[in-house]
Amino acid sequence: MGQIYVMDHPLIQHKVSMLRSKETGSKEFRELVEEIAMLMCYEATRDLPLEEIEVETPVAKAKAKALAGKKLGIVPILRTGLGMVDGMLNLVPAAKVGHIGLYRDPETLEPVEYYCKLPYDAPERDIYVLDPMLATGGSASAAIQFIKDKGVQRIRFLCLIAAPEGVERLNKDHPDVDIYVAALDEKLNDHGYIVPGLGDAGDRLFGTK
Ligand code: URA
Repeated sequence: MGQIYVMDHPLIQHKVSMLRSKETGSKEFRELVEEIAMLMCYEATRDLPLEEIEVETPVAKAKAKALAGKKLGIVPILRTGLGMVDGMLNLVPAAKVGHIGLYRDPETLEPVEYYCKLPYDAPERDIYVLDPMLATGGSASAAIQFIKDKGVQRIRFLCLIAAPEGVERLNKDHPDVDIYVAALDEKLNDHGYIVPGLGDAGDRLFGTK
């Protein structure tokens, strides 16, 4: 079973509350999503391996630590996942960025991949899949499956707000994938919105409503 990590850092919780407010406009919303993604990245990379190195300070030689060269990749699910990319890259600028886009077939209701471009060496990387809202888990689960089908084995999923239904679905379909969330909400409503949630993340990010 995948682990679920609820990020209870006070800065994250404070910023999520601001994000939820319907008074928050697109500019501030975008900034908050980026900041929360950066703080979540900090927490979700806690277990990155380190190695000993030697550096020369202006005073003396020092034994120090550096990241042990583990390669990371970031894959936002289009379009809302895009809002989290810069926050992650602020902390891990060497990460490569792939993109995946899905739509729901109107007849079968099955998710269909319409775009997927991953780093050429994605199977050797730890891949962080990004989507701010984990609602039913249908798209996230399908996106993760499409990424696995391209040979990627080590995947983590980062979202800002999750519904219990989405967490359950991801755990069932992908028990090997750990989930990092800033808030675990109560439920989904009849329209598939997370309650209390924050409304439509894409429209709020891009001002399309
Ligand atoms: N997607 C959103 O943007 N908001 C929700 O509440 C659920 C899915």
